[in-house]
Amino acid sequence: MTKRIELMSIIKREKIVKLLSETELNRSVLVKGWVRTIRNSKKFSFIELNDGSTISNIQIIADHEVLSVDILKELSTGACIGIQGMLVPSEGKNQKVEIQASTIEVYGLADPESYPLQKKGHTLEFLREIAHLRVRTNTFGAIFRIRHGMAFAIHQFFHQKGFFYVHTPIITGSDTEGAGELFLVTTLPIHNPPKDEKGNINFKEDFFGKQTHLTVSGQLNGELAALGLAEIYTFGPTFRAEKSNTPRHLAEFWMIEPEMAFYDLNDNINLAEELLKYLTQYALNHHQKDLEFLNEHYDKELIARLESIVQTPFVRLSYTNAIEILLNSGKKFEFPVAWGVDLQSEHERYLVEEHFNKPVILTDYPKDIKAFYMKLNDDEKTVRAMDVLFPKIGEIIGGSQREEDYAKLLKRIRELNLPEEEYWWYLDTRKFGTAPHSGFGLGFERLMLFVTGMSNVRDVIPFPRTTKNAEF
Ligand code: 4AD
Ligand code: MG
Repeated sequence: MTKRIELMSIIKREKIVKLLSETELNRSVLVKGWVRTIRNSKKFSFIELNDGSTISNIQIIADHEVLSVDILKELSTGACIGIQGMLVPSEGKNQKVEIQASTIEVYGLADPESYPLQKKGHTLEFLREIAHLRVRTNTFGAIFRIRHGMAFAIHQFFHQKGFFYVHTPIITGSDTEGAGELFLVTTLPIHNPPKDEKGNINFKEDFFGKQTHLTVSGQLNGELAALGLAEIYTFGPTFRAEKSNTPRHLAEFWMIEPEMAFYDLNDNINLAEELLKYLTQYALNHHQKDLEFLNEHYDKELIARLESIVQTPFVRLSYTNAIEILLNSGKKFEFPVAWGVDLQSEHERYLVEEHFNKPVILTDYPKDIKAFYMKLNDDEKTVRAMDVLFPKIGEIIGGSQREEDYAKLLKRIRELNLPEEEYWWYLDTRKFGTAPHSGFGLGFERLMLFVTGMSNVRDVIPFPRTTKNAEF
């Protein structure tokens, strides 16, 4: 046993993704990973090994005269092993190379009686209940590799354009979206909190000396940074205590929020379209195998849809014109349509999937259904808002040109009864060297739904947080 370990430690572990396209063959290699399948014949065992570096497994041939049959017979799906052996051309038609094993090291067995992934073909719902193990499946391996690729490509996109990555706080005192869906952050004793004269909880005695919560968006801080660095983006976790139990909402999700000085709404829209196309093209270029797997098993139109998005100019349309189209559609919607209503996902999907059959960017929404910071149009009824609507998903991006006029912004804060004193620093930026500026938020998990063709956000984030669910 000691001899074996010595042997293994002198050569370096290589990744299966690299070995599968290796041209330098007939050399000794070391791989480590999890057994996907093992088949024992009389003289040989055949192991399909996966190390997470790619969806493909490498085949290992273990000659029973070289490796101990007793050890091989203990192995089953899920076991973790290291194999040293000769990388040789394969005679099988499914792979170009294989490894003829000379030594094996067993790191962990997986009892076939109780290992939940012993069999294939589990439902996505079942796999959510074993989120601690699901990363070992082909499906989740593919999704999380793509998720990494998308995060990397986002940084690359902005870096190439000269944007600066700004870290905005997770704990904040302001409710950016004004929707009140906040997770309180406190160290006060919840059973017996200190009270003020009026009998309300006295947050002055709390850790930060004021009421704080987890951020719903990095935007307000992003604006501060943009009004000095000019073009910035944040990319971090955001939190919403939304009880909506839908396939598109998480309580903890990641958002990409660029914010740019000197951009008007049109520049903002152009950037959003360019970003979405860049990310889609990146996935097609760098994640072909994973996409092919998802295309075959989950969504037969996935790759075609991704390719078409890259080539298609998105439709640009005002909210008012969209309402007209919906009213003239002759369709019966569950939520009736009228100018002024917030669009429901059935309306958004009608526009994108039936009427235009391509992504749609809606602009100039009524001010009453949008956040306080959006720039007022001359009609005084609508704001310079934009939502990007995607097939199968609905809203993937929300953004706007920001109100840069001090008096107008203050008026809006007062109209909405927002706590003016809490926004003094935000208002300050409009007092001192204000500038036209714009930005938007791209929901990372919504992007992931689009790129992977999956239909539930719980399946595109490793450990989803939704109501009554924070297990892993
Ligand atoms: O439209 P939202 O609420 O916009 C903002 O938060 C702005 N402050 C962004 C900005 O202008 N900087 O959210 C932006 C995007 C949505 O379009 C959607 O993709 C995603 O964030 N999103 C969610 N994703 C998953 N779960 C949720 N509960 C989400 N809420 C919003
Ligand atoms: Mg929105």
